[in-house]
Amino acid sequence: MFLVVVYGLVLALPLLFLVRRSLSPSPQPPPVDPQPEEKKSLKTIMQPPRDDLDPPKDDPFTLDQLKEFDGSDSSKPIYVSIKGTVFDVTRKSDVYGPGKSYNIFAGKDGSKGLGKSSLNLEDAVPDYSDLPENEKNVLNDWFSFFQKRYNIVGRVTDMPASVSNLANL
Ligand code: HEM
Repeated sequence: MFLVVVYGLVLALPLLFLVRRSLSPSPQPPPVDPQPEEKKSLKTIMQPPRDDLDPPKDDPFTLDQLKEFDGSDSSKPIYVSIKGTVFDVTRKSDVYGPGKSYNIFAGKDGSKGLGKSSLNLEDAVPDYSDLPENEKNVLNDWFSFFQKRYNIVGRVTDMPASVSNLANL
């Protein structure tokens, strides 16, 4: 009889152990946070800020004069104006050059379109005064983006009256 009990225990204990283990939740690996990787890759899509920019210049441009710098003449630089500040984007002719995605902003002040995140020709105009607050913030973000990456070569002297007295960043 004693042997039967011992035998029973020898068989039952490991079985009990296995059953308990399969019923209790297995330890989970620590949750993987995809964000840092995602953020990193999003960051690397856009060009990084630069630390080799020239001191800003204050040369005057009329909106009409700016048109010369839309990339159609490859011997001239490409300029993009935001809120009346003119940036030299020549080194990114791969996106601002003729036929490229953001050529719509070249040789002009297309502040409104930048604020609206719009690539429609009719939005690429200098009067951004009627943008709602959130789109004005988007526009300001673009201004900072350009300010950290492109040389400022001048300012537009004939911005529409509705925005010409609005302070820049
Ligand atoms: C499907 C939609 C879009 C995609 C996939 C996209 C993608 C990109 C990528 C990959 C870049 C980095 C380009 C580079 O540095 O070479 C970029 C930059 C940029 N995008 Fe877009 N974009 C989109 C829509 C828009 C729209 C609607 C606007 C209108 C405001 C816009 C304006 C810009 C501007 C101004 C830059 C900065 C270019 C620079 O100076 O480096 N994008 N976009």
